[in-house]
Amino acid sequence: MSISMRRKSHALPLDSELDQAGEPFVAPPLPYEYDALAPVISADTLRVHHLKHHQGYADKLNELLATSDLRGKSLQEIIFATAGDPKQAKIFNNAAQIWNHSFYWQSMRPRGGGRPAGELADRIAADFGGFEAFVDAFKKVAVEQFGSGWAWLTLDGKALSLVGTGNADTPLAGKKLPLLTIDVWEHAYYLDYQNRRPDYATAWLQNVANWEFAAANLAKA
Ligand code: FE2
Repeated sequence: MSISMRRKSHALPLDSELDQAGEPFVAPPLPYEYDALAPVISADTLRVHHLKHHQGYADKLNELLATSDLRGKSLQEIIFATAGDPKQAKIFNNAAQIWNHSFYWQSMRPRGGGRPAGELADRIAADFGGFEAFVDAFKKVAVEQFGSGWAWLTLDGKALSLVGTGNADTPLAGKKLPLLTIDVWEHAYYLDYQNRRPDYATAWLQNVANWEFAAANLAKA
């Protein structure tokens, strides 16, 4: 399947601000200071996560592309072209992790949390039976994702849907439109919470979840 055919069948708006035109790919700057999410996520965690892990995926992708015919493609074109292809797993993993992390930084904000408003609030109430039920379900996906991965709020067709993905996998590679995500790789929380992933997920939803970002993504659908 060609890249253009994959893109036409995809739910993601092609003007996604998280796309990058081509190499060298980078970890874009965070939309806030490293200490802006403390104490929910410490400056030490954010700094290492951004400068070492996120930038590390970018460095590795740039290295892999040096010998690939995918050179010159945008980040999203690379993700769509390599998803599900075992021979391209290394390139997919690093490209998807660049995109996933950029999406995760936007999924948080200082003094976030609380409750969504407007259409997003109405859709959550309709599709999950209320905000409290949604929070419980979101935490369950985050906590029960085995090993490394992500928990996502997505738009699946006309309904909101919660999805857990393993390792680098991303709803971007499927037909679901990502609205919000929490990184549940240990590198996202271990310095602050050790093995207490449920505490991280609870604090994240209460204090840093960026509902305005999720609502803006829903509005683009
Ligand atoms: Fe991460």
